Amino acid sequence: MPHIINLPKFEDPRGNLTFIEEENHVPFKIERVYWIYDVPGGQHRGGHAFIKQQEFIVALSGSFDVMVDDGKEKQIFHLNRSYYGLYIPCGLWREMNNFSTNSLALVLSSTFYDEHDYIRDYKSFLTWLLL
Ligand code: TYD
Repeated sequence: MPHIINLPKFEDPRGNLTFIEEENHVPFKIERVYWIYDVPGGQHRGGHAFIKQQEFIVALSGSFDVMVDDGKEKQIFHLNRSYYGLYIPCGLWREMNNFSTNSLALVLSSTFYDEHDYIRDYKSFLTWLLL
């Protein structure tokens, strides 16, 4: 199930610090890291499912919503802090929207980039779930 994972937070008058360790704070080996930024108002990202890829998404700055859909139920997670993130197992449809100005989304992925791992059409996703 997709769920929020709280990360260590070292509060300090000089500024706070948070970190992530693979297979410790996230339940997978981190093969890739990417980030989404400079998102114009009203735009959305995602809109696909991954066959194998697991992800962990953190709002390093600003805020946005992540909608996760298992084909039956949709869940919306609002991410707005850099000391927690959303774990998304493989096999779920996900979309990101409502990006605030200057938001920065960090995505840790369990796989290298592979276009063959994407299902980009929602009807194909529903069909794939039945296989
Ligand atoms: P995509 O995953 O479709 O973006 P989003 O889901 O956020 O809307 O990626 C957009 C493009 O970027 C896609 O054509 C391929 C490229 N890309 C890479 O080359 N490597 C990567 O790690 C990612 C995430 C995307």
